Amino acid sequence: MRLLLSVLGVLSVALLVLGVWWFVEHSVARGLSLTAATEQSESRLFHRDAMAATFAIYGHMVLGGLLTLLAPLQLLAPVRRWWPRLHHVLGYSVAALALATGAGGLVYIALEGTIGGPLMSLGFGLYGLLLILAAIRTVQLARRRDPAHRAWAGRLVILALGSWFFRMQYGLWHAFTGGIATADDFSGLFDRIQVFAFYLPHLAIFELVRLLWRPRRRQAVLSSA
Ligand code: HEM
Repeated sequence: MRLLLSVLGVLSVALLVLGVWWFVEHSVARGLSLTAATEQSESRLFHRDAMAATFAIYGHMVLGGLLTLLAPLQLLAPVRRWWPRLHHVLGYSVAALALATGAGGLVYIALEGTIGGPLMSLGFGLYGLLLILAAIRTVQLARRRDPAHRAWAGRLVILALGSWFFRMQYGLWHAFTGGIATADDFSGLFDRIQVFAFYLPHLAIFELVRLLWRPRRRQAVLSSA
């Protein structure tokens, strides 16, 4: 049974990595295009007169892309069990990438705002703060060998995938509705809900599952004692 669960877990993570791959490529390539003349002349995010904001946003694309790729690997149970050293190295890398990505996004928001205005800045700002908090708590608790580390690591992985969820949810919405309630300046009703809906519902579901799972786990431990 344990072996079957491990195999299913590895397959799920492999599917997830395949699923995020296009976004990782897009994000890293976009970040690295900072020096390209077309990017500099055409992109709204390139500010010649505000290079700190520009470096922050393009840097966060490269690091965020790597974060999106590496975070799911932390879910691999065989790595945690058989290669703890690799799990630790990956864990520190994911946390560092999350801190830098979150900080880059927050610096950009503070200096330039966002295309969707204050509401989007609020949604993305909270997202960045939560990502940073999850990275710090995950590492702190892991170093203390506190079992609460797992819950924070789960939150960190969800938040690390948030930017991908954002794009996937837009893709699905456009596929099923043709994009009603969306606008180019992100002022549509869907856009306004979406600035929080790419991470808060996912975190809520995670907490709910943990709540429902916990009594059963305790029961299983008690009955096997
Ligand atoms: C988790 C990994 C992340 C990745 C891979 C990522 C990637 C990207 C990419 C590629 C863009 C450029 C727009 C596009 O081409 O789609 C972008 C824009 C942006 N990101 Fe991120 N991001 C991540 C996390 C974050 C976080 C945590 C924050 C908040 C602190 C943030 C804030 C922003 C902002 C403010 C913009 C510009 C929005 C605008 O167009 O005004 N990102 N991100």
